[in-house]
Amino acid sequence: MASNRKVALVTGSNKGVGFAVVRALCKSYDGDVFLTSRDVGRGQAAIADLNKEGLQPKFHQLDISDRSSIERLKSFLQFTYGGLDVLVNNAGIAYQEDDPASFSERAEVTCKTNFSATLDVCRVLFPLLRPHARVVNVSSLVSQSAITRCSPAVQGRLKDPGLTMGSLEKIMQEFVYAAKAGTHRDQGFANIPYGMSKIGVTAMSFIQDRDIRKDSREDIVINACSPGRVATDMTSNKGTKTIDEGADTLVYLALLPPNTTSPRGNLVADRRIQNWG
Ligand SMILES: NC(=O)c1ccc[n+]([C@@H]2O[C@H](COP(=O)([O-])OP(=O)(O)OC[C@H]3O[C@@H](n4cnc5c(N)ncnc54)[C@H](OP(=O)(O)O)[C@@H]3O)[C@@H](O)[C@H]2O)c1
Repeated sequence: MASNRKVALVTGSNKGVGFAVVRALCKSYDGDVFLTSRDVGRGQAAIADLNKEGLQPKFHQLDISDRSSIERLKSFLQFTYGGLDVLVNNAGIAYQEDDPASFSERAEVTCKTNFSATLDVCRVLFPLLRPHARVVNVSSLVSQSAITRCSPAVQGRLKDPGLTMGSLEKIMQEFVYAAKAGTHRDQGFANIPYGMSKIGVTAMSFIQDRDIRKDSREDIVINACSPGRVATDMTSNKGTKTIDEGADTLVYLALLPPNTTSPRGNLVADRRIQNWG
């Protein structure tokens, strides 16, 4: 029989900001904390590092781009805990500036991972969320600047308060098709694959929050956030924040107290609500 113990899970947490979120939650969360990694070896090495600090996270494999991996995680959580209380969607990619990949490849792979795969995780795991659950979708302030570089027409579609998930997926797909055809600028999209993918994550979070308010499960709070510019592999260690500083806002959102009304359905950085666009 499943235990009623509370459980928190962080995607892409074998290194970087996600690793620091697991470290912080191990110290402050009243429940089990799962470090997840697409590669079991890298995940177990990260667990061993935290064990050396006297922390005891649990481990489960998760490749957010692999639907069967997400489904296996869901079955495990359902069987072991009967639910999920905190989900931090941290896993993400960014191509290095000197990467030889074409613009269209960057657009396709970045949007698939950062937007579509994160949405897949949500679709599979959201049915497990218990009342008072907290969901933190790690976006970026680059989403904020990228949306201002989209045409007024595209901005209007993205900021439409009635935007549905289906419409958002269509917009993201249009960007990828246009990138392949070399017409993304003509069609009003920003010339930044990573920024476009994170626009998707921010807009997705707003829609999810709006939809979950209608759910019978009470007080589930969903926010998007940015960790700031953090020194990790993603930034070639050029960020100004340490991973623990970068984790701060994510952990704050993951631990928002019961019946929080704000921040809720927001983009948050440095614990402050950010304007969208
Ligand atoms: N660093 C910054 O300045 C900054 C700024 C704004 C937003 N962000 C966002 O913050 C999050 C964490 O970034 P970071 O700087 O910590 O990057 P990072 O050090 O490169 O770590 C990214 C993590 O995501 C994992 N990942 C990538 N694709 C995955 C997949 N398909 N399935 C599961 N895990 C996957 C990586 O696993 P592997 O080790 O297997 O590759 C790694 O654990 C990202 O969403 C990023 O976009 C970062």
